[in-house]
Amino acid sequence: MKFFIETYGCQMNVADSELVANILNKAGYISTSNIDEADIIIFNTCTVRQNAEDRVLGRISNENKRKVKKTHLKIGIIGCVAQRLEEELLKDNKAIDFVAGVDQYKELPNIINSLNHNQKRSKTEVNNSEVYEHLLPKREGHFNAFVTITRGCDNFCTYCIVPYTRGRERSRSFEEIVTEVRIAGENGFKDVTLLGQNVNSYQFKNTNFPELLRKVNKVESIKRLRFVTSHPKDLSDELIEVMATSDKICEHLHLPMQSADNEILKRMNRGYSAEHYFKIVQKLRKAMPEIAITSDIIAGFPGETEEQFQRTYNMMKNIEFDYAFTFKYSPRKGTKAADFQDQIAEKIRLERLSRLIDLQTKITHKKYQNQIGKIKELYVEKVSKKSQSELAGKSRDFKITVFEGDKSLIGSFVKVKIVDAVGWTLKGELM
Ligand code: 5AD
Ligand code: SF4
Repeated sequence: MKFFIETYGCQMNVADSELVANILNKAGYISTSNIDEADIIIFNTCTVRQNAEDRVLGRISNENKRKVKKTHLKIGIIGCVAQRLEEELLKDNKAIDFVAGVDQYKELPNIINSLNHNQKRSKTEVNNSEVYEHLLPKREGHFNAFVTITRGCDNFCTYCIVPYTRGRERSRSFEEIVTEVRIAGENGFKDVTLLGQNVNSYQFKNTNFPELLRKVNKVESIKRLRFVTSHPKDLSDELIEVMATSDKICEHLHLPMQSADNEILKRMNRGYSAEHYFKIVQKLRKAMPEIAITSDIIAGFPGETEEQFQRTYNMMKNIEFDYAFTFKYSPRKGTKAADFQDQIAEKIRLERLSRLIDLQTKITHKKYQNQIGKIKELYVEKVSKKSQSELAGKSRDFKITVFEGDKSLIGSFVKVKIVDAVGWTLKGELM
């Protein structure tokens, strides 16, 4: 029996799909990257915004037609939509045969084995201590390793569904993490990203996040270390110091700001002020002048006035993020903000979002132009999408760069001189 997994959403889901692939491999199922060959199709889903959920549910109902030709085909849904809607999904969506929640992936072989003709199954109990210990992910088709260090989230930002779908925050043991990183490096994954909803609050016995980074930085088999996502309220001076003094930690930080208006930040339950956020950016840039800072911003949170929106806009202009993911606020049922009475009209949310996108496009363009003439080290990852003679790699500051080079360089580190910038891509020449 062959299975195919299609992954939506954040890197946590990418890492979870790799975990699920390993669980199914161990149970005797074989993975395929060709959906037409699959006997089991699994969708790992995201529900962070409504359009993410709509997109994947639309996709699943489309796949139902495959069952006409292949009657034994089973379709499953895992991840955050599975956790949010549970067995409701089986009633509303005829294409789906099984549903497994984010803490039930070890049960997947049992669930799939027990599906007899026309039977449907759902297992979505939350297990707030599940960290999938002693299970290595099955990584394929890329050179970056995602290593999960925490699961769940306790922050309850008022707009966010994640604490409800992924449960309470729990940290994996640092021994397990260090071992996983070492093995990933030995298997050729030289650029490692530690993952969690809020990595800065990692705590396992006496080991906090900066201490974990010190330990992982010593792993000899890897060359680069990153982590995502950081929360401004937990970003300590100790962490900045560790970042600045650890050779493997890359000069890139993703630090969601969400808003730069203090009243909105309070209503979002973010736990920091705009001034605090700005100060962190200054400290980071002082400690690491080459650091690239990226962010997430929400436009049109309930109650946001034009003046409050302007504060966010001006802060983005002032800080100049290398890149910012900008989102239109999307009410998620069950979260506090969805019940706020002062929801902003869709038209205004969209209009503010488009102003943020325009601003960030200009800033990113300027930042990328400024890279021309610099010499950068790239981790060569693949053949470029646009041209077979070009390779694509990532710099330490997380910028995709293409250059003319031989395929044998894939998986290695090279130095290039940046000669041009087109959109979000830099063009380099091999040194
Ligand atoms: N509406 C819009 N954006 C959201 N995000 C999370 N929840 C919502 C929501 N309900 C954004 C935040 C977060 C990113 C992953 O998604 O900016 O940092
Ligand atoms: Fe959601 Fe806030 Fe947790 Fe991030 S920190 S996952 S935005 S609740």
